[in-house]
Amino acid sequence: MKVSVVGTGYVGIVTGACLAELGHVIICVDVDKKKVNAINGGKAPIFESGLDGLIRKNVRKKRLSATRNLENAVLESEITFICVGTPSKESGETDLKYVFGAAQQIGKVLRKKKGRHLVIVKSTVPLGTSEKISEILGEKRVNFGICMNPEFLREGNAVYDFMKPDRIVIGCEKKKDALVLKKLYTKINTPVLITNLRTAEMIKYASNSFLATKVSFINEIGNICKKLGIDVYEVANGMGMDKRIGPYFLQAGAGFGGSCFPKDVSSLVYEAKKIKYGPRLLESALEINREQPLKMLELLRGKIGSLDGKRIGVLGLAFKENTDDIRESPANTVIKRLKEEGAMVHAYDPKAVENMRKIHADINYEKSAADVIKKSDALLILTEWREFASIKTDKPMIDGRHIIKKSLRGKNYDGLCW
Ligand code: UDX
Repeated sequence: MKVSVVGTGYVGIVTGACLAELGHVIICVDVDKKKVNAINGGKAPIFESGLDGLIRKNVRKKRLSATRNLENAVLESEITFICVGTPSKESGETDLKYVFGAAQQIGKVLRKKKGRHLVIVKSTVPLGTSEKISEILGEKRVNFGICMNPEFLREGNAVYDFMKPDRIVIGCEKKKDALVLKKLYTKINTPVLITNLRTAEMIKYASNSFLATKVSFINEIGNICKKLGIDVYEVANGMGMDKRIGPYFLQAGAGFGGSCFPKDVSSLVYEAKKIKYGPRLLESALEINREQPLKMLELLRGKIGSLDGKRIGVLGLAFKENTDDIRESPANTVIKRLKEEGAMVHAYDPKAVENMRKIHADINYEKSAADVIKKSDALLILTEWREFASIKTDKPMIDGRHIIKKSLRGKNYDGLCW
């Protein structure tokens, strides 16, 4: 099928490249000329393992292209995915200006088309948004169908997660549209759940909010274990053997970051309060997560006293390993506080330095972990990059990601929750 994908951020470009790999003809649309040129040049506009090769191969096979011209892309395709960003406002409310903007532009083009055109909302949108998009599209009675098809892609594993999902969720107004979309995914062997638009929106929010809450849960247990001298990783090991709990998302540490968990949980909290429900569990999950990175500094002060004037090494800037993304990363929270307390920061990350430099230009960035260790009085580990596992030093260290091998831990090593 011929498909247009509006928005080539991390969801859009992965969706486009993977659908092309499944044999469809994909036209990606973005306003950013750099991204459009990168894709047409066979390069991924973001760092995501396996994506470059997928783009290069499908551009070469003429199954994947990119353009800034949304009108042509929609006219030439039968299905259009909306994959534009849905950033958070200060209040936690989701900013839908890009989604509604895309819907308005698509609606305008659909008035020029005869055959039925399917619009798929893949951006993570609050409850009821897909219905509003349907109203925008249908203002002038165009012949269209709408589905809500949430993504469950993890950064760093996005291509794998697209090609081997645990399930595909399709919310729709008309079942016939869901069946057309289901056909698009024929080559992916996984259960397909067809439901209504709102339920599909809620499945996305509830899934992410559950995973985020599971992280805050194990961090709360970890904080209790720390006071009792218990290693929460051994506790998690015992918990995870119960198949009702499972071993995943029980890694205690500096907390969750990224462009999804914090935003999605805050959005669900905001929407719940709008309908006069107080989501205490979700608010606590966010509160525990906000405080978690700062507990590392409490432990550090316990070891070296005031941080004022001290040289503190920050190893790891990305919100997790295998990505250059620093959005809502615990490292950002820690660096901010270190600067407020007068510490001199020496930071290193294999991938994320340039992104962090855009936020904190006034700290020292080193070329390697060894350089950070040499230039620092004490160390904090904020991202579980494999290369940090073999660090051996007797300098005071707070490990926030349980990454340092037990046999290598120096005499001044301390774990955040172990
Ligand atoms: C998440 C969801 O997993 C994905 O399904 C959704 O589509 C987007 O949001 P992502 O944010 O890319 O994906 O990363 P994920 O691997 O889920 O980790 C999220 C955060 O939780 C990271 O900061 C990670 O360090 C943290 N985390 C995860 C923990 O602290 N402990 C864990 O056990 C697991």
